[in-house]
Amino acid sequence: MADAGGVKKRLRSQEWFNNPDNPGMTALYLERYLNFGLTREELQSGKPLIGIAQTGSDLSPCNRHHLELAKRVRAGIEAAGGVPFEFPCHPIQETGKRPTASLDRNLAYLSLVEVLYGYPLDGVVLTIGCDKTTPALLMAAATVDIPAIALSVGPMLNGWHKGQRTGSGTIVWDSRQRLSAGEIGYEEFMEIIASSAPSVGYCNTMGTATTMNSLAEALGMQLPGAAAIPAPYRERGQISYETGKRIVSMVHEDLRPSQIMTRDAFENAIVVNSAIGGSTNAPIHLNAIARHLGVPLDNDDWQTIGHHIPLLVNLQPAGEYLGEDYHHAGGVPAVISELIKANLLPHPDVITANGKTMRQNCAQVENADEKVIRPVSDPLKRDAGFINLKGNLFDTAIMKTSVISDEFRERYLSNPDDPDAFEGTAIVFDGPEDYHARIDDPAEAIDEHTILFMRGAGAIGYPGAAEVVNMQPPAYLIKKGIHALPCVGDGRQSGTSGSPSILNASPEAAAGGGLALVKKGDRVRIDLRKGTANILISDEELARRREELQKNGGYHYPKHQTPWQEIQRGMVDQLGSGMVLKPAVKYQRVAET
Ligand code: FES
Ligand code: MG
Repeated sequence: MADAGGVKKRLRSQEWFNNPDNPGMTALYLERYLNFGLTREELQSGKPLIGIAQTGSDLSPCNRHHLELAKRVRAGIEAAGGVPFEFPCHPIQETGKRPTASLDRNLAYLSLVEVLYGYPLDGVVLTIGCDKTTPALLMAAATVDIPAIALSVGPMLNGWHKGQRTGSGTIVWDSRQRLSAGEIGYEEFMEIIASSAPSVGYCNTMGTATTMNSLAEALGMQLPGAAAIPAPYRERGQISYETGKRIVSMVHEDLRPSQIMTRDAFENAIVVNSAIGGSTNAPIHLNAIARHLGVPLDNDDWQTIGHHIPLLVNLQPAGEYLGEDYHHAGGVPAVISELIKANLLPHPDVITANGKTMRQNCAQVENADEKVIRPVSDPLKRDAGFINLKGNLFDTAIMKTSVISDEFRERYLSNPDDPDAFEGTAIVFDGPEDYHARIDDPAEAIDEHTILFMRGAGAIGYPGAAEVVNMQPPAYLIKKGIHALPCVGDGRQSGTSGSPSILNASPEAAAGGGLALVKKGDRVRIDLRKGTANILISDEELARRREELQKNGGYHYPKHQTPWQEIQRGMVDQLGSGMVLKPAVKYQRVAET
């Protein structure tokens, strides 16, 4: 690191390993790191010590390939004159963790903050991939603020079944409907699902993983092109090597997350999220990363900056293609190139991890397949971003209007006098178990005029917020050709689902939000143009219900199962505010302390 006068700044790691003022402590710190063969020359001569935050393990198969890729990262670090230190992160596997992987995002964040702060690391490579691993690691890098670069594990190869692309998650939602409708049996169902996961890597659809890995690149925290290279490709190993080399230079330049992830970078990322058809989980995670940096960002920004941006990337669930196609078309740099050409990227001159600007990295990149990455003049959809709804049901909830199907639009949004609004009658489910127990019961009398409400599924209620708001209609309605009912909830939805649900409602029922007050049979009005969502009852009736709720001790949710569930419930913020741990956000740039 050099200061303005060109004098080399002492590396952080030298406080541990080369502190002549305290030879006793220096020797104690040093001796155990020598015992596996490192030399004093490596630890005491001012070489950057680089952490490799390893998220791969047998428990986290989406990121498992990082165990291999880390070998290339190490080689790159060493080639550039650094010393690699690989260490494990708390595993977060989206599909395997009960009750939900998102419970662990903040736990992995906390533990990585401690590691980066408390050990002699000058910089870190963040191995990202599966949904929550990306935000958890970027949040920790934001808090500690030592030089950091992210490295995606890459998506799986495309899935295929009988000549059709089968995409992660998306094929589950589709096949479940076919199973319910009796079109396929259990064995064929299992075979189709397995076909969507043909190799190492993360989800090959534009779910939360491809979204968050793309946004890590759009924020400037990865090397250009690093998000989309499929996990098994040779380029994946090569970019791992380059990433290892680059982090050593970033330490010498003292290029830190707070310099890359600025408000301008987040605005770019919001625009890219619309253009790629990104997951509804993205606002939660980007708002969280921003909060840990002290950058203001909220759901109003997502609508203002992102809603009018067109959908360019033709990946499932919004489109047809999968991860390999995305990479072949040019990945994130080709998307950004299209946006720059159309003057839609708000801040092309922000600095990125390789030391160059976004414009320098992307403007000349050719879009190699316009079927997969559409030009702005011929988008898949217009207005592909989210809208931010408000009303007596919640202060904020987002909706991805671009995934509204023709069938849904025809049924709910085709009144010529009122084309952007619909009304319906509420049925309310308290958590996913309640939904499964009652959805097919004819006594509930659910029909096409029903709006399905899911509550008790937020950051406190579930806990960690479940991906359960995209509720399938009763089987008897699916058989009649009604494939989607309006869904509203205080939980999340999988990024691989194409439902136009109204989600991430904050405050949640468990925090006293309006969803705790809605009752079966209530008339509810949703107005997409005005951005409102209201129960059509008087303020007096609403106040009476609130009083009654308080008398009953508030909204009841299931008891804690583990210590962390209780700890997090006591200090977690709402989904609209990033679901961060409230006491954590005041800690910024902690490496300097
Ligand atoms: Fe891990 Fe989708 S389940 S990336
Ligand atoms: Mg998910």
